[in-house]
Amino acid sequence: MKLKRVYQCSNCGAKSPKWIGHCPSCDQWNTYLEEIIDTSKSDQALRKAFRSQKIGLKPVLLKSIKKSGEKRLVTPDQELNRALGGGLVPGSLILIGGQPGIGKSTLMMQLALQMPAKILYVSGEESEEQIKMRADRIGILHDLCYVLTETDLLSVLDEVRSLEPDLVIIDSIQTLTLPSLESIQGSISQVRECTAEIQKYAKQTGIPFILIGHINKEGMIAGPKVLEHIVDVVLQFEGDSLHAYRILRTRKNRFGSTDEMGLYEMQSNGLRQINNPSELLLSQTEENLSGSAVCATMEGQRPVLLEVQALVSTAIYGTAQRSATTFDSRRLSMMLAVLEKRVGLKFSTYDVYLNIAGGLRISDPALDLAVVAALVSSLQDIPVDKNIAFAGEIGLSGEIRAVSRIEQRIQEAERLGFGKIFISSNNLKGLSKSKFKIKVIGLGKVNDVLSELFG
Ligand code: TYD
Ligand code: MG
Repeated sequence: MKLKRVYQCSNCGAKSPKWIGHCPSCDQWNTYLEEIIDTSKSDQALRKAFRSQKIGLKPVLLKSIKKSGEKRLVTPDQELNRALGGGLVPGSLILIGGQPGIGKSTLMMQLALQMPAKILYVSGEESEEQIKMRADRIGILHDLCYVLTETDLLSVLDEVRSLEPDLVIIDSIQTLTLPSLESIQGSISQVRECTAEIQKYAKQTGIPFILIGHINKEGMIAGPKVLEHIVDVVLQFEGDSLHAYRILRTRKNRFGSTDEMGLYEMQSNGLRQINNPSELLLSQTEENLSGSAVCATMEGQRPVLLEVQALVSTAIYGTAQRSATTFDSRRLSMMLAVLEKRVGLKFSTYDVYLNIAGGLRISDPALDLAVVAALVSSLQDIPVDKNIAFAGEIGLSGEIRAVSRIEQRIQEAERLGFGKIFISSNNLKGLSKSKFKIKVIGLGKVNDVLSELFG
């Protein structure tokens, strides 16, 4: 074995013979870490071996391959099933990432405690007592959940072999090590090799593995991108730690759509599934205050009605503030520019704050119309009628553009008791308005909406 010391970018995996502060390949700073690699298995040597002797499998005719039939292990967690596209596929590798403290261990412990199957929970981060404390807090006791506090992957796999569980949860992949590798725990090569080893094992035995992964400052799962290429499903658990809502987003799924997501609320006894999001995300006040408008958005395949709140107030200091916590601030600037140029409303001497109820980060172009309504309502201090919902994208010339899945959005607004919904007139094509009890109003320009709302 020929060992060599190199430096590798922990974000993209690029190598360099000496330490550098800035990665020329992915443009990140301070991501280079020391790695020890085995150079005896260089690409050239491998290729030579391939040419000289026949190794590996033979090609087979596609039509002769038998289908195993899709058997999925359906979990008791509806939201997780939704994010996975219908349950766990045997032998699959699922990576779940998220900020520290967001609730990854809670989500997985809860799954282990609820699932009527033999589950092995491997933790390299916490002691048995700590795990027990969390399980007690969640409070559902299940006889078949085994806990193993181990970081050596080979011992873990030995235990898996003797226990034969239906599902293995690893908390977290960064704590596992293969002792044969010289790199330190959590280094790129350890994380990558451990994942590759687990994948091989999962494919052979058909046991699904869920790996918890830490993410770095930029929100990427720590370790090179290759990790995301190895696994079958990448889920991201996100939310604002100050709010109780959590979204489980599907970022990659070899067995389903990435358009899916699950919603939870963190409570004192674990995560509660939210099956009916709109009712929670609309503010409960009866009062009609200025600066708020309701948008019919889509989160994954589900329509969600949520409230957009804006506060426009006179700027005290020279430069006006623009603050949007859960909304793209560039999009906010664009909306303000459109209002200034196309409607003639001046915001330059005002501070503008924008917030989306519940602390969820949602990027749906259909929010635009509600954002504009909320901004103008706050500026003029005239409330928007609480009976109205909005769904429309706004273009640079102030035109209202059509958005996807309009029927679902309208239906959800109707279900929640709204009397009117403002959409793009282009969305009216092929839509039978008479189907709905709610009044559907199609408009072409921002000006039309504002004159309907504020006269
Ligand atoms: P945890 O699952 O440890 O997060 P992660 O594994 O992603 O780092 O959960 C962290 C937070 O969740 C912690 O601040 C405590 C809180 N929590 C609850 O609010 N309710 C609960 O039932 C549990 C178990 C945790
Ligand atoms: Mg944890």
